[in-house]
Amino acid sequence: MKFLPPGIPFLITHLILVSAPPFAVYSIRRALHARDIILPTWFWIIAAVLSGPLLYAIHVSNKYRGYRRRAAALGAALPPDLVGKEFGNMDVLRGIIEAFTHGYPSDMFDLGGEMCGPLFMYKIFWDVSYATTDPNVVKTILATDFANYEKGEMFHSYTDSLFGTGVFNADGELWKFHRSMSRPFFSRERISHFELFDRHAETALNKIKERVRSNVAFDFQDLVSRFTLDSATEFLFGSCVHSLNSSLPYPHGMSPYPSEAEKSPSERFAYAFGMAQRIVSERPRLGWVWPLREIFKNSTDEHMAVVDAFIEPILQEALRKKQERAQNDKNLDEKDTQDDETLLDHLVKQTSDRAILHDETLNILLAGRDTTAAALTFGVDLLCQHPAVLKRLREEIFEHVGPTRRPTYEDIRNMKYLRAFLNETLRLYPPVPFNIRYVMVGSPEAHVSSCTRFSIKEGTLPNPDPQGLPVYIPPRTAIAYSVFNMHRDPTFWGPTAEEFDPDRFLDERVGKYLVPNPFIFLPFNAGPRICLGQQFAYNEMSFFIIRLLQNFSSVSLDLTAQPPDSLPPAEWKEAPGRKGKEQIFPKSHLTLYANGGLWVKMEESDPAA
Ligand code: HEM
Repeated sequence: MKFLPPGIPFLITHLILVSAPPFAVYSIRRALHARDIILPTWFWIIAAVLSGPLLYAIHVSNKYRGYRRRAAALGAALPPDLVGKEFGNMDVLRGIIEAFTHGYPSDMFDLGGEMCGPLFMYKIFWDVSYATTDPNVVKTILATDFANYEKGEMFHSYTDSLFGTGVFNADGELWKFHRSMSRPFFSRERISHFELFDRHAETALNKIKERVRSNVAFDFQDLVSRFTLDSATEFLFGSCVHSLNSSLPYPHGMSPYPSEAEKSPSERFAYAFGMAQRIVSERPRLGWVWPLREIFKNSTDEHMAVVDAFIEPILQEALRKKQERAQNDKNLDEKDTQDDETLLDHLVKQTSDRAILHDETLNILLAGRDTTAAALTFGVDLLCQHPAVLKRLREEIFEHVGPTRRPTYEDIRNMKYLRAFLNETLRLYPPVPFNIRYVMVGSPEAHVSSCTRFSIKEGTLPNPDPQGLPVYIPPRTAIAYSVFNMHRDPTFWGPTAEEFDPDRFLDERVGKYLVPNPFIFLPFNAGPRICLGQQFAYNEMSFFIIRLLQNFSSVSLDLTAQPPDSLPPAEWKEAPGRKGKEQIFPKSHLTLYANGGLWVKMEESDPAA
């Protein structure tokens, strides 16, 4: 039913469910009538109206009783429950939506954490979900009990129109297939990346120089997203979208953004891709009733049409080349990764299935583009506030690479402070701040054939309180975890957890906090689903920062250029920790971003100095 808007199948299924109890009452009435047992009409009307809610109440109460019974049988306990004040916990749902729309990224989990601790449950319209900020619990779901936690049916339903069956969305055998198809491509150092980064970094730096020379601020987030888009499309498809060639936006009040008609195809693609991401990331906040917002149309359709129009010709060309090679080259079956091939070249060797190629490339484009752009954006935001760190980085760059030379893989490996700076940025502003898993594991066959025949396993989680019983988690339960909150928790990082200090990745704090407890730092996830592009990302980020700081000696925020409604709310100033110090507004859809962009000014370095 993929061609129908999501609300239609939802309504059909739920109308059937809702109408079943009154229909049963009506059938009972007819059966009794046939036996001359007549009850007053008002009785049947009341019975028909109340039958649904009553049955549902019995179902819910049985479900909760079942959870308590199973927990006791396993010698476990249920976690603290975040109980709202309104019917169906509407107030909790409103709190989540409010935190997502106007709050600081940590607010959503702080809301429950302050009342219930680092592992709690909440019920939206009686549907139970868990949330955690505890590294041990996260370790269980990502690594030690990996097989029992999946992205699951619900996650698929939110993201299907964007991710399709790609590696991000798949579970079980399908996920293994996708992962094994793409992994060989990431598993070796590919020198060509550096040439690719260099070309796009050069264009980006020239764009910055134009702005710097006219003394007008520019949006670094926009610029670096173009850099990562151009690098990712060339790396993936061998055909770059040249988004850096379009003119940069001007600060608020100076010039309007180009109209839809004036936008280049790459700008339209980037916008549509971003919108589709935003829509799918908003769906889970509404809980299981999200399809009701999309009764007449799938909100991602118009955006995905733009994305597909862009990507289709590229796929067609790759498949055409494959056919051509098949006619000329008898060794086509050979699946080795060549040094100069793109990811798409590599994938077409494994399959000619258009849908698989489409989904896989889009998944990796998304994985590779916004994450790296987010890390570089927040990295530069931090440099604006910490000129001493910028100075130290430049010293290291000049010592290892000099003022103009292109950095090599070896240079980057030896630059310890640069790596510490990147890690500290990823700690305070993890590009994927939140994630979710479901407790349900299907047999591999069940996954491929049907979504309904799962062999379901309940589980237990470690209790964050070492004195407490293990925590029972029922089957088919969503568990959301916040890397963002975990990365800033003084329990795991010590009293300076909220401070930006790259040295914590170099001094005795590594041995004190990180080595004994590596799951406190998870920007790239962990376990079998750890990020495939981690090394690529470190190389790309390092390369860009080196080139940037070779060319520019200082960087500062220009808050007057920022759209005024994009700045943090005034009341944040009262908040403790980083929230009170934020000059820009970090928000998240699937990835973290600076609301309204990151408007900065830079100073060119003096080549004679
Ligand atoms: C700073 C940059 C990056 C960060 C912070 C990051 C983070 C992550 C995280 C947290 C996940 C797990 C998502 C989940 O399980 O729901 C992930 C998965 C993934 N990442 Fe990255 N990523 C980055 C860059 C990249 C790049 C550059 C690529 C490729 C070019 C890439 C490719 C992937 C892929 C293919 C997966 C899916 C792995 C799987 O599910 O098996 N990532 N990444």
